[in-house]
Amino acid sequence: MSSSPAFATDHATGAYYEQRAAEYDDWYTGRGLYADRDRPGWDPEVDEIVGLVRGLPGVRTLDVACGTAFLTRHLRGYVVGVDQSASMVGIAQARLPDGLAIVGDALHLAVADGSFDRVFTGHFYGHLPPGERAAFLNEVRRVAVELIVIDAARRPGVDPEQQRQERILNDGSRHHVYKRYFSGDQLAQEIAGEVLFDGDWFVAAKASWTQDSVAAAARG
Ligand SMILES: C[S@@+](CC[C@H](N)C(=O)[O-])C[C@H]1O[C@@H](n2cnc3c(N)ncnc32)[C@H](O)[C@@H]1O
Repeated sequence: MSSSPAFATDHATGAYYEQRAAEYDDWYTGRGLYADRDRPGWDPEVDEIVGLVRGLPGVRTLDVACGTAFLTRHLRGYVVGVDQSASMVGIAQARLPDGLAIVGDALHLAVADGSFDRVFTGHFYGHLPPGERAAFLNEVRRVAVELIVIDAARRPGVDPEQQRQERILNDGSRHHVYKRYFSGDQLAQEIAGEVLFDGDWFVAAKASWTQDSVAAAARG
């Protein structure tokens, strides 16, 4: 086991999500392996998060690590989803009749500087260990002027930072991922933004900046 965890650059993690694509939504919908999980208040909070996404202004949005587009499909306006898993992208594209889903790397987005108004990301930021986190935030600042992060809420009895959280798939295979849980304030502080949602299961935060500030930072 490596002493420094990786997620976005980890080959095994990539293979895990590719394998998980067809069963991924069970986590949201409480089916399959999630049918027996005791998750009080989960369904109404999923609905609240979907409502939050639906209510966002319809600007040019890049959803980074879009997965199956479970959330992406509720974004209004011009929407592009990017994910490294071809199977995730296939499911996502079927849900985005007026949008585009493409295979790509969140840490090296193949889009021009400033080509989106917003980067949206769900349940991805909280998987990134420090180095990948910094690379991701740099990339976000290059391509957009707003970031919205939806992630997992800190809960009693759950270690807020897990180096190797075990994941089991329908075929019984076992996988491990780096994973963090947040309070709304913590997430907002990390991305230098404001809290949009602070629930029992989910948190959301938004940060914004100007391209001038990005250019000034690049000039030093
Ligand atoms: C927990 S899922 C989140 C999916 C979706 N955004 C959601 O909120 O349900 C994490 C996603 O990150 C994707 N991913 C992991 N590393 C990536 C990378 N380097 N570039 C793009 N996507 C990546 C995985 O394929 C997976 O779909």
